[in-house]
Amino acid sequence: MTYPKEILSYKHEYIRFFIKRFPFDVFSILMRPHLERKRYNYILKEMSEVVGVFNVLKNLINKNKTDKFVLYELMSGDALFSHFVAKNFPNSKVVAIDLKFSEEYKSNNKSKFFDNIFFIEKNILEIKDLEKADFIVSIHACNNLSEIVIDKASEFSNFFILVPCCIGSENYEKWKRNNEIANKFFNAINNEYYKWCFYLAEYAKSKNFHINLKVDNKMLTERNLIIFGKKI
Ligand SMILES: C[S@@+](CC[C@H](N)C(=O)[O-])C[C@H]1O[C@@H](n2cnc3c(N)ncnc32)[C@H](O)[C@@H]1O
Repeated sequence: MTYPKEILSYKHEYIRFFIKRFPFDVFSILMRPHLERKRYNYILKEMSEVVGVFNVLKNLINKNKTDKFVLYELMSGDALFSHFVAKNFPNSKVVAIDLKFSEEYKSNNKSKFFDNIFFIEKNILEIKDLEKADFIVSIHACNNLSEIVIDKASEFSNFFILVPCCIGSENYEKWKRNNEIANKFFNAINNEYYKWCFYLAEYAKSKNFHINLKVDNKMLTERNLIIFGKKI
């Protein structure tokens, strides 16, 4: 076990869960481990997000009754989620996609740590063809990339799990101008992030997904709404 005491002593349910299920040096799969080691708040936030999304994935997997699946993580950043899934579901095949990965934890686009993780270094907008996936997941995809996650799920999968991040896209601005009822309702709540998530849920419905929304207050971030969808 190589977690520093600052993390080991943190008594948060999701952090405990993460450490128990991932007893490795979590910093070794960050792009700038020498910097991140000093930034415990950052890594605690990331760990809690992984667990929030993992819980949703686990429920879907339990319903599907098989632990042999293909999962894409889009806009994966350091792919912490992919590593966590690969470790906990050794029969799975996990493919992380991002513009750039660290050379420190991959070689020939395979993970140095797990046999079942692969990396695709590419602009998601340029990816036209993918092997069919059982799940498409994205944590904190920025702006219109959240819509792209739904588009890719619609093309290449039956399930997606998405935690939106930065708010906004051209389509969203148009939708807000034209959607009086949603605007009245959400002005009462006065939370732009939830309005953005609601829009994305509507967008996914238009692509024939049955949608669930979950606010997970145990994730150590204000951007804590998980949208998950199953194709109808
Ligand atoms: C906010 S970060 C989220 C990273 C990670 N999912 C997380 O939660 O830590 C957004 C990521 O999207 C990637 N990204 C941005 N535009 C992209 C694109 N067009 N195609 C693929 N990845 C992209 C960036 O490189 C970055 O790693």
